[in-house]
Amino acid sequence: MTAQLIDGNALSKQLRAEVAQRAATLRARGITPGLAVVQVGENPASQVYVRNKVKACEDNGLHSVLEHYPATLPEADLLARIDALNKNPAIHGVLVQLPLPPHIDAQKVIQAISPAKDVDGFHVASAGALMVGLPGFRPCTPYGCMKMLESLNAGKGYDLRGKHAVVIGRSNIVGKPLALMLLQKNATVTICHSATQNLKAMTLQADVIVAAVGKRNVLTADMVKPGAVVIDVGMNRNDEGKLCGDVDFEGVRQVAGYITPVPGGVGPMTITMLLVNTLEAAERS
Ligand code: GUN
Repeated sequence: MTAQLIDGNALSKQLRAEVAQRAATLRARGITPGLAVVQVGENPASQVYVRNKVKACEDNGLHSVLEHYPATLPEADLLARIDALNKNPAIHGVLVQLPLPPHIDAQKVIQAISPAKDVDGFHVASAGALMVGLPGFRPCTPYGCMKMLESLNAGKGYDLRGKHAVVIGRSNIVGKPLALMLLQKNATVTICHSATQNLKAMTLQADVIVAAVGKRNVLTADMVKPGAVVIDVGMNRNDEGKLCGDVDFEGVRQVAGYITPVPGGVGPMTITMLLVNTLEAAERS
């Protein structure tokens, strides 16, 4: 069997067109959805992410403001900026790009963002809302993974009810929230660590496998049940310096039923869901 590709670029294009249309409707009512992106320091990966987020806003009719501060910015000054953005009616979403310099307490900053503008979905109020099934912003990467599952079977969606999903990786921004979203769809969910003993015994039982570790070849073909759906959240570089995921793509695609590529899989979906969250923040305002 050769897996069908889940094309994150194509799905993103479709979802971004819907965002652009809804943004135009809002603009006609005098509301331009606005995102503030705050970057502190010069982390090279952050530079790329931030640029892509701002461009995605521009391309789809959202207003965006990039506030870029030197790495020496005092924590109190950053908190004051967050407070000002919370109060700014032209800004519907506030995103502080991570990582922050070590002298700044990232949690303190995230918790200072108004939950109504928390389009990253990192605030405890957003995490709590997801936990108890209340409306709130969902973190963009796991939200994008769910949208990819919804796109399967010609848009009818992959029925998770009674299925076993194994999530490898337990971060607050991917593994944990994704597990909750899968549970909401009545899947059985196992959350693993990359060091989980006999990880293969877990993944071989799985109908859906999500790899979100940040390490190459965490998932190889011998670990995958034939026909399983494989979602690769990893962003790594191989020996030739080329972008690759956590999954041994060439091996696993011979066994899986569906697989997301890297690049062109989950990556573009993350920014797309940020646009969706920002639009919804503006629609609720
Ligand atoms: N750094 C890496 N990924 C992310 C993300 O999704 N949001 C923010 N704010 N920072 C990040």
